[in-house]
Amino acid sequence: MANPLFSVKNLSKVFPGKVWALTEVTLTIFEKESLVIAGSNGSGKTLLLRILTGLAEATSGEILFRGRPLAQTLPEIRHSVGLVFQDPDAQIVGETAEEDTAFGPQNLGLPKAEVETRVKTALTALGLGEKREFSPRRLSGGEKRRLAIAGILAMGCDTLIFDEPFANLDWPGVKQVLESIRKLKAEGKTLIILTHELEKTLAYADRLVILHQGAIRDDGKPAEVLDRLDPAYGVRDPRSTYASVEDCTWLTE
Ligand SMILES: Nc1ncnc2c1ncn2[C@@H]1O[C@H](COP(=O)(O)OP(=O)(O)OP(=O)(O)O)[C@@H](O)[C@H]1O
Ligand SMILES: [Mg+2]
Repeated sequence: MANPLFSVKNLSKVFPGKVWALTEVTLTIFEKESLVIAGSNGSGKTLLLRILTGLAEATSGEILFRGRPLAQTLPEIRHSVGLVFQDPDAQIVGETAEEDTAFGPQNLGLPKAEVETRVKTALTALGLGEKREFSPRRLSGGEKRRLAIAGILAMGCDTLIFDEPFANLDWPGVKQVLESIRKLKAEGKTLIILTHELEKTLAYADRLVILHQGAIRDDGKPAEVLDRLDPAYGVRDPRSTYASVEDCTWLTE
């Protein structure tokens, strides 16, 4: 049995005005699994992962990271969990693409040569090798997203969280991101992908969680969850286009 990475129990988030954004969420995320969390706009995906990474606070509930209370583990989370933000502009820090990608590994205190190798590998993997000297502000929306992903890849985290990784991406961009996800999975990383674009990710998912109006509505093997999917959740079953979950890959096209 795999070790729990995040153990979430009865987590709720209530905003002023009694707006319940998350309601009694109970979820265990295991090490080395590939988990897709799907749900319509406003279902609470980003908020849940912001709380798990210490960027927002829960109103009530318990969160353990590797068996220890979240508040005691934030420095460890910062080193071992990489979060690719839904909004890439929120993540840009460098004056050039290269400098931006180097920021994370430099903060980890890695030697200069190692940082350079990681930056080059990550930018090449995301198709940005030729834009390494560009200002991130001059990159297109899709290029910015790929840059944000490169920065997280270069950190070499054990756990990667992708918040809507395909937004704004063209077909080659989707393939580059999927190829990175496939490699990370093969390397035994824990992957958490928040998306409503199930057709792009399901072939790489061990597990699918459905979030709707701030509550977990289903959790299980992707094919089984899709078999009993309630259309009210606003998540589209990609098998209406593809014959099976295994066929839901853009990499072979
Ligand atoms: N600071 C805030 N004050 C009030 N409500 C908030 C605040 N932040 C988030 N919310 C609400 O929490 C709910 C969940 O938001 P969240 O960003 O997690 O949705 P999401 O599932 O990531 O949606 P999307 O698919 O659009 O990215 C939304 O209804 C949002 O309006
Ligand atoms: Mg979101």
